[in-house]
Amino acid sequence: MARGTLDREQVAARLLDASAKHSFDPVHEVDWDQPQPADLFYAVPEHLSLYGTPLWERMTPEQRIELSRQEICNIMSMGIWFETILMRMLLKMAYERHRPESRHVQYAYTEVGDECRHSLMFIRMIETVGARPYRRPGYLNTLGRYVPVLLQGAPMWVGTLMGEEIVDVMQREMIKDERVQPLVRQVSKIHVIEETRHVSYAREALARRLPRAGRLEREHARLVAAESAVVVGEFMANPAVYKRVGIADPEAARRMAKGNPHHLEVKRRAAAKVVPFFEELGLMGGPTLKRWQRSGFVG
Ligand SMILES: [Fe+2]
Ligand SMILES: [Fe+2]
Repeated sequence: MARGTLDREQVAARLLDASAKHSFDPVHEVDWDQPQPADLFYAVPEHLSLYGTPLWERMTPEQRIELSRQEICNIMSMGIWFETILMRMLLKMAYERHRPESRHVQYAYTEVGDECRHSLMFIRMIETVGARPYRRPGYLNTLGRYVPVLLQGAPMWVGTLMGEEIVDVMQREMIKDERVQPLVRQVSKIHVIEETRHVSYAREALARRLPRAGRLEREHARLVAAESAVVVGEFMANPAVYKRVGIADPEAARRMAKGNPHHLEVKRRAAAKVVPFFEELGLMGGPTLKRWQRSGFVG
């Protein structure tokens, strides 16, 4: 069957089945008390925003590890923000569909359960590695409040995929890397397994929806894709991170990170699944391409 023509109820039934087989309770299934060896990173070093820059070259091994600890906590904080918005969107959809007997709505509730556990897992990880969560900027806090009303249909699924697929690619690399703390790898593994379902749910929903969408909805989806990319890109070079690491000029570090060719390469690799999918659906191109370039996810 071609993409976009899969039956909604069949997709949801398959995902419900997979959820019943492979769901995790992080409270009991992550070893929260395991040692955190002092010489291991909290993220893949090459993923770090300052990797390979003159600033990085001047850092001691301890400072590099501290940068990895703060950057992973920054990403987890972004994850909590994003997942909370996603849970609200899914619940709103379930409420409005008014058909709890449908598999599609039952899977939405199941995904809310997954995301709820993920956000708790992320906050616990931040605490366990001895850090503090990062606050999102004020404008994003306000924007996030209205997202469930502003994004419906195709734009909702586009925003969801931008939030899920970029982090997913990076976490897959993290799981395999022995230079990374076992605790972080364990958390990433649980997340990757459960997110695989979320990504198929959103991809299938988007592919089904777009052919029926009017011009306005398509343009809106295209805009949301590019603007979400900009937001994720901004999150990945957070001056508050550099401040906590003890870098004297956090703004200069942010500029260095944004132009860092190593980091741009990581970003393009992280976007290498979602961008071709959007291209295939006609969601790239036009005036939004400039925004994509600004985000760093597209060259
Ligand atoms: Fe999640
Ligand atoms: Fe998810």
